[in-house]
Amino acid sequence: MTTRAVVIGVGHYLPDRVVPNAEFERTLDTSNDWIVSRSGIERRHFAAEGQTTSDLATRAARAALADAGLDATGIDAIILATSTADLTFPSAATMVQQALEMTRGFAFDVQAVCAGFVYALANADALIASGQARRVLVIGAETFSRIMDWTDRSTCVLFGDGAGALVLEAQQGTGTNADRGILSTDLHSDGRYRDLLYVDGGVSTGTSGVLRMQGKEVFRHAVEKLSATADAALDKAGLDAGDIDWVVPHQANIRIIQSTARKLGVPMDKVVVTVQDHGNTSAASIPLALSVGVDRGQIKPGDLLVTEAIGGGLAWGAVVLRW
Ligand code: UT7
Repeated sequence: MTTRAVVIGVGHYLPDRVVPNAEFERTLDTSNDWIVSRSGIERRHFAAEGQTTSDLATRAARAALADAGLDATGIDAIILATSTADLTFPSAATMVQQALEMTRGFAFDVQAVCAGFVYALANADALIASGQARRVLVIGAETFSRIMDWTDRSTCVLFGDGAGALVLEAQQGTGTNADRGILSTDLHSDGRYRDLLYVDGGVSTGTSGVLRMQGKEVFRHAVEKLSATADAALDKAGLDAGDIDWVVPHQANIRIIQSTARKLGVPMDKVVVTVQDHGNTSAASIPLALSVGVDRGQIKPGDLLVTEAIGGGLAWGAVVLRW
């Protein structure tokens, strides 16, 4: 018998305000055509004034708990993947814990930028496998609209706000890759590339800063590293690309998603794509895509899923799970 971290609930939240590409044409030297052809993005959601990452996370968490038929008393831990926590500390996860009126267990943030949700899943899997938690709420939530340089057309048109959440529960499996739940994880980072994608503020500057990115370089690393980490995770689970029902990638750029699928040998009709509607929501993009994929009727119980992501650090990784 092997203890598996099995998904028993999923949900998401997107702020009300939808911003189409055309809105940027008013203030920047850009066009809907450029944004769609270079990134695949058509629109994104932006949080309302005063709406924070923990607000978005709490809404997604409530949706996932409702889907699981639970309230927060049934949860042992909250892991929140985010790079846009409300404050430097305490963690946004403890703010969600308070909002859910959860007075036991523990909560913490994971900061691995766009790879954050993959890192959070690996942490949840380890907590469940070691017996430290039986049910873990894993959330990805971001308000990247707060860290944009609105004069930089090469970045501000790409990102959006949102949140998605899963409830994972310890269940006994047979130890084979036919089990439901997380089957393998593969994590990497390489700080030599820290200058390719970063926020130019923080405790050391006394400002919260704005996002800076060398897009072309990040693109090059993404295409190379995402298929390699997905292949490595599949290999660890004793599976190959032919076993995949759905690739649920980080949603940064449709051209990265297509190139990675091609390298993996998976057709695009087995890839969940939401980038056109959400833009790049960093650590929120994978749980958002999982939740939307279920709502669309794409992802079904028993399906074999591969998630993969890369972002600032650079940090990247993949998780293989059976839904
Ligand atoms: O989630 C974290 C990981 N992040 C990513 O995965 C992002 C990775 N990178 C990308 O998605 C792409 O590199 C971008 C979408 C950011 C850019 O696409 P690109 O095909 O690499 O374009 P580029 O950066 O090479 O820019 C091409 C041209 C440049 O003009 P010149 O130098 O050729 O005259 C840019 O100045 O497009 C120009 N440009 C724009 N033009 C109109 C850059 N941004 C814009 C814009 N509108 N918004």
